[in-house]
Amino acid sequence: MLDTDEFRSALGQFATGVTVITTLDDEGEPHSMTANAFSSICLAPPTIMVCIAHGTNTHGFMEKTHRFGVNILTQEQQDLGAYFARRPENRIGDVEYHYSESENKTPVLDGSMVFFGCEVLGSHVYGDHTIYIGLVKEIRRNESGAPLMFYNSGWYNPGGN
Ligand SMILES: Cc1cc2nc3c(=O)[nH]c(=O)nc-3n(C[C@H](O)[C@H](O)[C@H](O)COP(=O)(O)O)c2cc1C
Repeated sequence: MLDTDEFRSALGQFATGVTVITTLDDEGEPHSMTANAFSSICLAPPTIMVCIAHGTNTHGFMEKTHRFGVNILTQEQQDLGAYFARRPENRIGDVEYHYSESENKTPVLDGSMVFFGCEVLGSHVYGDHTIYIGLVKEIRRNESGAPLMFYNSGWYNPGGN
């Protein structure tokens, strides 16, 4: 039997970028959550995937709206990455952020390096997560600054600045 702590620790050795998944809540207001379970799939059709826990608000919203945004964070957005990793009732503190609206009405988190506006093309439920395949309908880019990274359960800056 695999040891869960050892599994979690070993997974943490995979350094990733950090995204914020944007959706619309039940009132049609923007909702965000931090996610690093993101990957490209195909160039044609242009597809990506994200893996979303069933306990999150985001999962419920994506099940209803069938669209979502992936916003790749910069190091300057580390506070936002930490903020959107908490459940909304625990999101306290002095963070400033603004949204724009994509062509298909998905919220764009301003200041992110890249935004992918996606329609859910398919999904696969496994355990307590759903893997969503997103068809990328829109890309916005704003590549100033270095990417925010996550490694070994913490924020990571390979340049050491
Ligand atoms: C670096 C980092 C990456 C995360 N990646 C994911 C992820 O890929 N999928 C996921 O379901 N939760 C992920 N989380 C946890 C969610 O951000 C967290 O559960 C959040 O509170 C969900 O917000 P919501 O319930 O309002 O949607 C991650 C957290 C951190 C700090």
